[in-house]
Amino acid sequence: MPRPAKMAGLFIRMQSDSPFFDADAIRATTFVRHVEVHDELDSTNNRAAELAGRLPADDLPALIVARRQTAGRGRGRNLWWSADGGLTFSLLIESADFGIGTANWPQLSLATAIAVCDALKIGLDLNDERADSHLRLGIKWPNDVLIDGGKVCGILIESPGGAAPAKDRLIVGIGINVNNSWRSAPKEAGPDGTALCDVTGRSHDLQEVLTDTLRAMAARIDQLRNRDPKLIQASQERNLLAGQSIIVEADGRRIEGECVDIADDGALVVDSIFGRQRLYSGTVRMVR
Ligand code: BTN
Repeated sequence: MPRPAKMAGLFIRMQSDSPFFDADAIRATTFVRHVEVHDELDSTNNRAAELAGRLPADDLPALIVARRQTAGRGRGRNLWWSADGGLTFSLLIESADFGIGTANWPQLSLATAIAVCDALKIGLDLNDERADSHLRLGIKWPNDVLIDGGKVCGILIESPGGAAPAKDRLIVGIGINVNNSWRSAPKEAGPDGTALCDVTGRSHDLQEVLTDTLRAMAARIDQLRNRDPKLIQASQERNLLAGQSIIVEADGRRIEGECVDIADDGALVVDSIFGRQRLYSGTVRMVR
């Protein structure tokens, strides 16, 4: 039976018998130790922030997954369209366990985006070289995943802040459009999205996409911890911006130029009229 959990003064339904997600199977087959499956939340990142000061270290990584979000958040002031059929979840991790400090946040974004590509490549059923073509499935630095030019996944990494233990933890929020066809997205969601089902013409098992993503994340975060060059190599191969004219807005600055590459430390390398720049965060627009 669904059991109620208290959140910010109100009760929410937490489903342990969700037809979409089997918490025990997720725990048994992935690196997560604590799983919460919710029918509806405002935002899985908000729920992860609540748990950040409470969960013992042994319970991490913790997964919070919601079938629907009523106030899914994107980067900046954006909202994330979170309808039924979408996959919306957050991972709460102990950053030290993954050798991640503030300095390598950009690489954590990239590691996550590449892991999502690894998982979606399975869902796309592409075994030919097209699956490895960044034109088909690629990343828009620092953390968007695109299929055939449409955004299929967004990633929002946040620090819960506050006192220990929360301040040493990170929240990795991931939204993947799986069976929520972009054709039914509200106008405000914008024209540039897509969903896995839109590309493959069939519906996908949400639990499978979720566990494929979690397993890929464990492998890619391991590469990050071990400074394995394969991670940056994969980011470079999947870099949709390479050779493109772009505008990057970062820290109140606007940099226009051509994207050269992704550097070994995860920075975006851009040739602008002011010379070669290395950017560690920012919002990128492609100039068509
Ligand atoms: C973006 O592309 O702007 C980032 C979108 C991140 C959306 C996910 S959905 C799960 C998690 N909870 C949220 O409120 N946001 C992230």
